[in-house]
Amino acid sequence: MDKIKVAIIGVGNCAKSLIEGIHFYSQNPQETVGLIHPTVGGYSISDIEIVEAFDVDERKVGKLLHEAVTMEPNRTMIISEISPSKIIVKRGPTLDSIIDENRKYFIHESNKPSVDVAATLKQSGAEVVLNYLPTGSDEAAFAYAQAALDAGCSFINCMPTKLGRDEKWIAKFSQKGLVLLGDDIKSQLGATIVNRSILELFKRRGFRVTQSDQTNFGGNADHHNLHYRPDAKEECKETSLGSVLSKEDVKPNARMIYTEKNYDHKRASLFVMGEMFGKVPASVQVILDDEDSPNSGGIVVDAIRAVKVLIDKNVVDRAAEISASIMKAPYKQMSEEDSYGVFSEITN
Ligand SMILES: NC(=O)c1ccc[n+]([C@@H]2O[C@H](COP(=O)([O-])OP(=O)(O)OC[C@H]3O[C@@H](n4cnc5c(N)ncnc54)[C@H](O)[C@@H]3O)[C@@H](O)[C@H]2O)c1
Repeated sequence: MDKIKVAIIGVGNCAKSLIEGIHFYSQNPQETVGLIHPTVGGYSISDIEIVEAFDVDERKVGKLLHEAVTMEPNRTMIISEISPSKIIVKRGPTLDSIIDENRKYFIHESNKPSVDVAATLKQSGAEVVLNYLPTGSDEAAFAYAQAALDAGCSFINCMPTKLGRDEKWIAKFSQKGLVLLGDDIKSQLGATIVNRSILELFKRRGFRVTQSDQTNFGGNADHHNLHYRPDAKEECKETSLGSVLSKEDVKPNARMIYTEKNYDHKRASLFVMGEMFGKVPASVQVILDDEDSPNSGGIVVDAIRAVKVLIDKNVVDRAAEISASIMKAPYKQMSEEDSYGVFSEITN
């Protein structure tokens, strides 16, 4: 198979886990544990090649990619020791991506000028651009999405800025035969899919949902940023949860709490309550413990390969259906079961 050439925006924890995971499965081609789809449209994980990367932190800009991923504040559970890379992390435009509260420790802004992102993407041969910017960086996300378009690249929006659910942006990409997937990647076993599955079960069993509370405790750079800029993330989560409920049910709640430690461990506390037979109450409480960043990697490897399949099969107009299975806030919400079926139908 052809290699799928990928550029990364934001060499943070998610990028680190993704790169280490691609290396792990490439070195162990028989290993299928941890993969929802060992192959997607015939593509294996080893067919994914990272060809370019952008950041704004002086500890990462100008470094080789295998060194940059190890720099603070990145701190995830190591999946594998990656091979030396020849890719030098380029300085991207900052725009609205750094909040003052993150400057002390989480981002040390580089004083180098930004490169021309579209020209750099073109030169790298990238086909797919992965957006891992901090949540709330709308201006920066739009600028990178436009640069991807100008360079003829598809775009996967792993954060909540409205791109994959905006008809204007969807049209801009599909008119050029490119794919836009978004918004906000749904982790492999994250709070959203677990919470959503419980709500779907309540509805399938005839309940009225009277309470649905999700509290996410995390200590990484993403959670520090989310402590100050939670709105877009909470909206994506609440939209995803609300989409499996009906008018008679309560509106679900999702909250983000920073735990004041720099580690990637995350705990989500879920509480769902409802009325069953005879309007008698029943509830479920779940504690989910996970490593935040590998949890997104398991889905991003599917997203990258799905983009390639949509282009190979010349069905870029079906991008929104792929987003329904892998994004918290896609253009069109579907049930977990339906979206899984559609993903398999399109990519097989
Ligand atoms: N499971 C998950 O971790 C998960 C799930 C869904 C969505 N997300 C979203 O993915 C995004 C990335 O998460 P993360 O944990 O890797 O965050 P992170 O803070 O570890 O990484 C962000 C990286 O972006 C860099 N950056 C900041 N501004 C930039 C700019 N203008 N140009 C280029 N790089 C820039 C930072 O220096 C940092 O290296 C967040 O928006 C997060 O909400 C994460």
